[in-house]
Amino acid sequence: MKPVYSCEPDLSVEEFVSILQRSTLAERRPVDEPETLRSMLRNATLIVTARIHECEGKGELIGVARAISDHAYCTYLSDLAVDRTYQGQGIGRELIRRTHQEAGPKTTLILLSAPKAQSFYSHIGLHPHPSCWTVPGSKTGKGSLPNTAPRSQPSSSSKSNQSQELAGFFDEISNTYAEAIQRCVPRYGEMLGALVEYLPAEAQKPKRVLELGCGTGNLSQLLTGKFLEAEFTFVDISEQSVSACRQRLPIETKKQFLVEDFRQLHFEDESFELITSSISLHHLTSPEKRELFRRCFDWLTPGGILTYCDQFSAEAEDIYQRNMQLWKSYTESAGASEEEWQMWMQHQQDHDFHDTLPEQMAWMNDAGFQQVDCPWRYLLWTVLQGRKP
Ligand SMILES: C[S@@+](CC[C@H](N)C(=O)[O-])C[C@H]1O[C@@H](n2cnc3c(N)ncnc32)[C@H](O)[C@@H]1O
Repeated sequence: MKPVYSCEPDLSVEEFVSILQRSTLAERRPVDEPETLRSMLRNATLIVTARIHECEGKGELIGVARAISDHAYCTYLSDLAVDRTYQGQGIGRELIRRTHQEAGPKTTLILLSAPKAQSFYSHIGLHPHPSCWTVPGSKTGKGSLPNTAPRSQPSSSSKSNQSQELAGFFDEISNTYAEAIQRCVPRYGEMLGALVEYLPAEAQKPKRVLELGCGTGNLSQLLTGKFLEAEFTFVDISEQSVSACRQRLPIETKKQFLVEDFRQLHFEDESFELITSSISLHHLTSPEKRELFRRCFDWLTPGGILTYCDQFSAEAEDIYQRNMQLWKSYTESAGASEEEWQMWMQHQQDHDFHDTLPEQMAWMNDAGFQQVDCPWRYLLWTVLQGRKP
């Protein structure tokens, strides 16, 4: 039997609760707060329902979409619920389509997926967004966005919590990181090769090299194999990763390891001829990157080089989004599971800050670097290089 779809601004609280329960969405909705539910229904812009009519009357409610829209720019689809026994028949998809149609197809429809439904939304053609941010509702009614310490500039205590979380994340995956990164970063080996390949002729024999965020040693291995005479300083906040890196490098390499946050490093001026990094600096906010570039400038000798490869955003949002899609397709074809992709997306949401190429070039220029250039780029991954005069 075909469902009948309608707009029902007067849907009752009882029916709403019932469909939330039959769809499992009740786990994440305030079904025991009738006043909240009443307000959710009364103040929604659109309530689209799906019903089965077996006999006379209203019919059985088997699906609902509740949305808030300005009818011009954006439509937030807050609740999409389909009775479990009717799932897999295209009802959720049709509720989304009709909600978008009613709200205004020109609006951007936005929804937050339940953890178990993520594959459903990508399956029906919705685009994942890597930088969705939320401020959780507060029970006290005071609002929970801190007055100070926004996400873009963490306070020192939230910074240290974030650092610990980040270190924990990389500690945990240190055993599997080497293979994971091949699956999850397109043309990774080529990018590391380009970083080294494009070092200018005068930087081919650095005496002292600093690597920021060495991780388990992918770039470190390449560098120690190339600069046999150099003394290396490897820094990473993840102890387990540093330990894996240490085991991987030749005994005869002159090296020291620092398990430290690279935002808090201190070196004498002119301590290194080469400072480098691979997919690590995107863990810094924009102001932190700027500050680090200034410090790197001081730590380098005249003629010294700062070069790093990393994930960058794009000037044009549609290009950035396309890059994200292509990245996902790459990981799928390289054998990464949906779960693994979601794990990286969660990590990205929690810890990553992508800035554009022009921004990062400008910050290097501001720090004093010259001939700042981008010798290699593919999707988000970019190699950048600057020279201290
Ligand atoms: C994606 S991994 C890259 C590791 C390695 N460079 C590579 O190419 O495989 C990022 C590394 O940066 C380290 N990292 C991130 N933020 C850091 C910080 N503030 N201080 C020190 N290390 C940091 C992480 O612990 C992690 O090992």
